[in-house]
Amino acid sequence: MNTFDFGIVGLGVMGRNLLLNMADQHHAVAGLDLDADKVHSLTQEADSEHRIKATTEVKEFVELIKQPRAIMILVPAGKAVDAVIGNLLPHLDKGDIIIDGGNTYFTDTDRRFNELSVKGIHFFGMGISGGEKGARFGPSLMPGGNKEAYERLRPIFESIAAKVNGEPCVEYLGNGSAGNYVKMAHNGIEYGIMQLISEVYDIMKRGYKMDDSTIQKVFEEWNHTELESYLIEITGQILKKKDTDGQNLINMISDWAKSKGTGKWTSQNAMDLEVPLPTVDAAVAMRDMSKSKPERIQAASKLIWNSEQTNTDVPKAIEELKGALHFSILITYAQGLALLTKASTEYKYELNLETIAKIWRGGCIIRSVVLEDFRQAYAKNRDLKNILLDDTIASTLIENQSNIRNTVQFSVQKGIPIAGLMNSLAYFDAYRSEKLPTNLIQALRDYFGAHTYERTDTNGTFHTEWND
Ligand code: 6PG
Repeated sequence: MNTFDFGIVGLGVMGRNLLLNMADQHHAVAGLDLDADKVHSLTQEADSEHRIKATTEVKEFVELIKQPRAIMILVPAGKAVDAVIGNLLPHLDKGDIIIDGGNTYFTDTDRRFNELSVKGIHFFGMGISGGEKGARFGPSLMPGGNKEAYERLRPIFESIAAKVNGEPCVEYLGNGSAGNYVKMAHNGIEYGIMQLISEVYDIMKRGYKMDDSTIQKVFEEWNHTELESYLIEITGQILKKKDTDGQNLINMISDWAKSKGTGKWTSQNAMDLEVPLPTVDAAVAMRDMSKSKPERIQAASKLIWNSEQTNTDVPKAIEELKGALHFSILITYAQGLALLTKASTEYKYELNLETIAKIWRGGCIIRSVVLEDFRQAYAKNRDLKNILLDDTIASTLIENQSNIRNTVQFSVQKGIPIAGLMNSLAYFDAYRSEKLPTNLIQALRDYFGAHTYERTDTNGTFHTEWND
């Protein structure tokens, strides 16, 4: 009784793997699940090295854990989280901690945080990234909640998180729902980068007519360059995978993608906060477009575009594509980080962007060598409004400008849909425009709706009778 360091509710793949990861790090961990088979299978993992106990009984589970208790819930986001909290509550004491490790929408976390703090229970929303393998061998963890209460969790989380140069990919991020918000932005960036990779793959395949094996080798090689990252690495592995008949599996996979919604949430909330995220928006839109397969089949034979033949220098094209991808990936991170900067003020999270770049360097899906550059940029200037204003990042973007422009030109001419690349370039061009044509939008609004406008030469609001 009361001797276990930590408790996990929900022994599905993520819960079980995190629990085993903790047990490997010599923490005594209790597990709870209503499914007796899962409980039984976990119990069999216990040995003299691993103090594990699993049960189907809530009371027994809670009583196993040291006070103040630390209990993580790993069940599907939504009503199931509230149901588990409701079952745990009668057995908990003041000062106990509940952590939701799911991809929960941040306002749900704020509600639970407030409801539970009235009862003296600390509630944490924690983003966990890295999938099943990450959970088992080293995820990136994004906890948000009460800063003092985090001290109870710190040693356990630091021991199980991925490490980069010995530094754990976890740190207390901020108040309330900060952890879920940061994970949501992470997923928005994840959507953006995946969209960009798929566009570059499409340009290679349909635009430059490169064969599968050449494309695969390019991605594999890119992972040893400035593009080194988890998503580029696994793209190289995916393109190598054979189906049972020995053919490339990728060519047998349907072209419509599902989504659980975290990318959409990122775009939706960014619009509420008036932060432009056009690459992420495009990624969400293109997943939606992918779903309308019957319409696309109909349109393919109707909306014809015959592109011009182009002479292709493939090695040059590959170099251009590499630069274009590097450029647009940097822009995607810039958008996500700008969102976090605004959200931190808006929701009083007190986020430290250097810390976020630091804990995203390992374990998570968007881990990449560029995160170290971002970390250094924020270390130099804590108040950096946008990563594009950092000298190192700015010069990389400038170096790659011709690559992205040539890639966009080529793809547009070929009729290849590249919403992610185009929106990354448009973001860059708008951001570096001292003067945008929005003066005309102001005038149009004032013309048809008397919405007024501001002037460049004097302060105040003005209205003109345009139709005189
Ligand atoms: C991670 C992933 C993980 C999950 C995504 C998938 O960081 O480990 O982001 O959380 O795989 O939520 O999201 P979609 O189903 O929306 O693509």
